[in-house]
Formats: sequence, structure tokens, C-alpha cells
Amino acid sequence: MEDGHGRRFYYLRLSVTDVCNFRCDYCLPDGYQASPKQPDLSVAEATTVMHAFAQLGTRKVRLTGGEPSLRKDLPQLIQAAKTTPGIRRVAVTSNGYKLPSAIDTWHHAGLDQLNISIDSLDPSEFAHITGHDCLPKILTGIDRALELGVQTKVNAVLLSDGARDRLQQFLAWLKTTPVTLRFIELMQTGDNRDYFASNHLRGVEIEQLLIETGWQLLPRAIDAGPAREYVHPDYAGRIGLITPYSKDFCSSCNRLRISAQGKLHLCLFSDAGIDLRHAIRDGDANALAESVRAMIDNKEVSHYLQQGNTGGTENLSIIGG
Ligand code: GTP
Ligand code: 5AD
Ligand code: SF4
Repeated sequence: MEDGHGRRFYYLRLSVTDVCNFRCDYCLPDGYQASPKQPDLSVAEATTVMHAFAQLGTRKVRLTGGEPSLRKDLPQLIQAAKTTPGIRRVAVTSNGYKLPSAIDTWHHAGLDQLNISIDSLDPSEFAHITGHDCLPKILTGIDRALELGVQTKVNAVLLSDGARDRLQQFLAWLKTTPVTLRFIELMQTGDNRDYFASNHLRGVEIEQLLIETGWQLLPRAIDAGPAREYVHPDYAGRIGLITPYSKDFCSSCNRLRISAQGKLHLCLFSDAGIDLRHAIRDGDANALAESVRAMIDNKEVSHYLQQGNTGGTENLSIIGG
């Protein structure tokens, strides 16, 4: 499946709940919580979605939230993704809260890739940002994921205040820890305008520093996420940069999103989403695939962030970025 701008969609981001138990400063500071009108997609419904997308060329499924581990049946969802014909890689993005107790089960269910959000390696700063004092526990869970051979990435939103100190802490950790650390440029939502104005730091500033210190850019895989990834011979870990404000960020977009309520989001910042719940409930993957195919030409060429488009908080917290 290709859209009108020559982009192909190898990657489905499937949100399995819009609820999160964290309150990250930049994301859900005021405890905003969605109030779903219908139950989240069941395992059977999610399976129909994944079968339909696999028919359209999707090769990788990422389960997101909210916080996906708040679903007790997350292992079943991972297994459903893993056993969908055509799906080669199954990934989860999580805040890591349940990681130590859950990672063995997720791995057993078929998890290939894990992305965990850690904005600071300083335990008290982490607690300040997220509202939860549990960094050591999350790091233990990451060690276990690595032991099990799960490819692990860490997401850190770039925040201007103290950015250099945080970078030094992350670099020290990456010397011996084989994870990919991705810095994500803070995105403006309708609800974080003031926060954005005082905290946004351009990813290129970090990138410049990396290049000056010998980090080298890697080529990008077709089902890769949006990060530009760098390696360095002295480090076990890698560094990635996700810079949605950079020119041409959207020209390599390879993903579509389905919310836990069964809406298709053609872009992270397409506000309303297209309700596919009826088609999903019918359980006919072929028909669902045709509905999605018919909508793909409505995908905009860009998120228009540079032109001041923002979208609401829900774009990041409910469909998980
Ligand atoms: P990989 O497949 O491991 O490379 O993952 P990913 O980067 O696609 O997934 P992850 O859930 O870790 O996404 C990290 C963050 O990147 C998200 O929470 C968003 O903040 C941002 N992001 C991911 N995809 C997009 C996108 O299409 N547009 C924009 N603007 N931001 C995105
Ligand atoms: N800008 C950039 N990334 C964000 N995330 C949440 N809100 C924002 C924002 N405003 C990211 C988190 C996490 C994922 C769920 O979304 O850091 O990696
Ligand atoms: Fe933090 Fe992610 Fe939860 Fe938002 S959805 S509050 S970024 S853990």
C-alpha cells in the first residue's frame, strides 16, 4: 500500500489503552485522563486489525498506549501480533513501570523489541518528571530484557534545562549498556504551549555535539522508526535522534496508527481519527484492509508542526506518539 506521496506503510502502531499511570511533565501534567466510551479493542479485535494491516504490507507491529502494560492481557496481544502471518517484528513502548515483573512473560509471548521512556538517569529528576520514584526498578527490568536478548531502546524527551548534564550521564551509561538511547525533540501540543516555549531544545544541537565527538550515522532500515541513529567505537550503546521539527521529517513516514477505540490515525497529529470500530468488530480482515486502503490518500504530506499545528495532548498520550 502506497499513499499519494510515494510512502509505504510497513509499521503499525496499535494503541491498546489510552490510560497511563504516569504524569510526565510534558505529557499529562494535570492528570488528564481519557474517558473511553466503549471498551478498548479486545484481543480478537486487535487480531483482526493486525491481519488487515499485514495484508496491506505491514511487517512490524508496535503496541503502545497510554501505558500498554496496564492491560492484563498484554501477553496475549503480543502473541496475537507475533502469530499474525506477515508480521516479522513485535515491539512494545512502555514507561517500564511493570517491566521487572513482566519482561519474562512478554519475551515468552514473542516480544522482539522494547522501547522504554527514561528522561533522566538521575533518580530524583526522574521522579520529578514522571511522578514516580522507580528508576532503579526500571533499570533492573532493562538489564533483564537485555539478558533475554530483547532489542531495547530508551526514549528521552529533550528538555533544555540541564540537557548537557543529562547527556553526560546517558553517555557514561551507554559505554557499557547495549541499548539505543533516542533523544526526542519535545513536540508542542495544544496543552503544553508554555512548557514547550521554555523547554524546547533543537535535536540538531545534540547531533552537532555527537558528530564532533566521533559518533557516526547509520543507514536507515525500511521498517525503522523515525530516529537517525549513531554509533561510536568506544560505546556499547547507540544514540538516536527524533527531530520532528526538522525539514522533510515526514517524507520518510512509514507508519499508521490505530487507537484503542478503533480509530485510524493517518498521522500522529491528525486530530479526530477515522472510526473503524464497526468494521473491526465485524472481524472481516479483508474488508477492513480495503477500508484502510481507501483512506490512505487522505494522509497529509506533513504534520505541519513547523506551521504551528499542534494537536491535543491526546495525540501523544492516547496514541502513544
Ligand atoms: P522504533 O521502531 O524502535 O524505531 O520505534 P519508534 O521510534 O517508532 O517508536 P517509539 O514508540 O519509541 O516512539 C518514540 C517517540 O517518537 C514517540 O513517542 C513520538 O514522540 C515520536 N514519534 C514516533 N513516531 C512519530 C511520528 O510518526 N511523528 C512524530 N512527529 N513523532 C513520532
Ligand atoms: N513531545 C515529544 N515526545 C513526547 N512524548 C510524550 N509527550 C511528548 C511530547 N510533547 C513521548 C514520551 C514517550 C512516548 C510515549 O511519547 O517520551 O517516549
Ligand atoms: Fe509519560 Fe508516556 Fe504516560 Fe505520557 S503516556 S505520562 S509520556 S509515560
